[in-house]
Amino acid sequence: MKIVITDVSWGSYDVEISYLPEDAEVVCEQITNDEDRLIEACQGAVAAMSEYAPFTRRVLEALPDLKIISSTAMGYDNIDVEAAKELGITVANVPDYCFDEVAEHAMALALGALRNIPGYDKSVKEDKKWDFAVAPKLYRINGMTMGFIGCGRIPRKAMNMAKGFGMKLVGYDPYLPKEIADEMGLTMMSIEEIGECADVILSHVPLMPSTAGMVSKNLFDHVKKSPVFLNTSRGGTVDYHELSQALKDGRIRMAALDVVDAEPADFDSEIFTCDNVIFTPHAAFYSETALEEVRRRSAQNVTNFLTQNGGKIEYVVKPE
Ligand SMILES: NC(=O)c1ccc[n+]([C@@H]2O[C@H](COP(=O)([O-])OP(=O)(O)OC[C@H]3O[C@@H](n4cnc5c(N)ncnc54)[C@H](O)[C@@H]3O)[C@@H](O)[C@H]2O)c1
Repeated sequence: MKIVITDVSWGSYDVEISYLPEDAEVVCEQITNDEDRLIEACQGAVAAMSEYAPFTRRVLEALPDLKIISSTAMGYDNIDVEAAKELGITVANVPDYCFDEVAEHAMALALGALRNIPGYDKSVKEDKKWDFAVAPKLYRINGMTMGFIGCGRIPRKAMNMAKGFGMKLVGYDPYLPKEIADEMGLTMMSIEEIGECADVILSHVPLMPSTAGMVSKNLFDHVKKSPVFLNTSRGGTVDYHELSQALKDGRIRMAALDVVDAEPADFDSEIFTCDNVIFTPHAAFYSETALEEVRRRSAQNVTNFLTQNGGKIEYVVKPE
């Protein structure tokens, strides 16, 4: 049986291969945007493991033997899930492999900004200054209010960490059951009200048509304490023009962004003209632990599916 690993962004295939069936013919490729090459590489394959390769309807219709595509990621926007369902192809993913990392990263960004860590580091190394007073005014984190726009599984991990620092929690998420909010000790309110009371705000809503650009003047025009603003979800959920304006006129003291609205980043875009931003390059998901986990579990999805007659997949992706 032929299995194609269509692409990986970590430069080796050894973990995947070690969890695929021993008798499989495993073909390793690096195809991220060429449909014709993808069709050619996957001819006769029963399974594909993929991160970015474009499994469009056209590609899927040209691969009659394909039974499963296992995404080596949380996201699967490279796969036409609707077409896959119609053609009887199962799509699997690993949606929960980096919850800890993203929450840890969000808190690292919050703490880095609130304690001026990148600013101090630059002042010591580049300006040769050993002077705490080079920072903007800093305040005690214990007792601050942290606002969460989107209160899903990742932000809720960050909430538990924020509680450990003595922060009060407020949130906006129209779909969050009240019992969960109560259990988390989270006071629910509107985005405008979060602006009015928060010292630090984590925006973490998944990108969907209904959430595109949803964080904009509704937040930035209502802030009272010149808060720190964080985005670890998707750039497209935040209006980066309005954020840039708010950073320039001081409504937002500092932003810490793991994601920007176009990736790979366009360094000519407005957000990169703001000095008071800490950037990380869509790195929140990354740890060696998480990488090993997503590689192993996505390969196990294929093996379990092929050797157990279509059974034992942890997460099957369904069309919206
Ligand atoms: N930066 C990274 O490296 C990285 C890595 C993995 C995931 N992510 C992002 O994390 C997201 C998943 O986060 P999660 O695990 O917390 O998601 P989740 O599915 O557990 O929760 C999503 C939450 O968003 C809420 N929501 C939906 N629409 C909303 C709206 N209009 N306003 C406010 N809240 C709304 C839902 O009610 C839900 O509570 C992914 O979609 C991806 O964008 C980023």
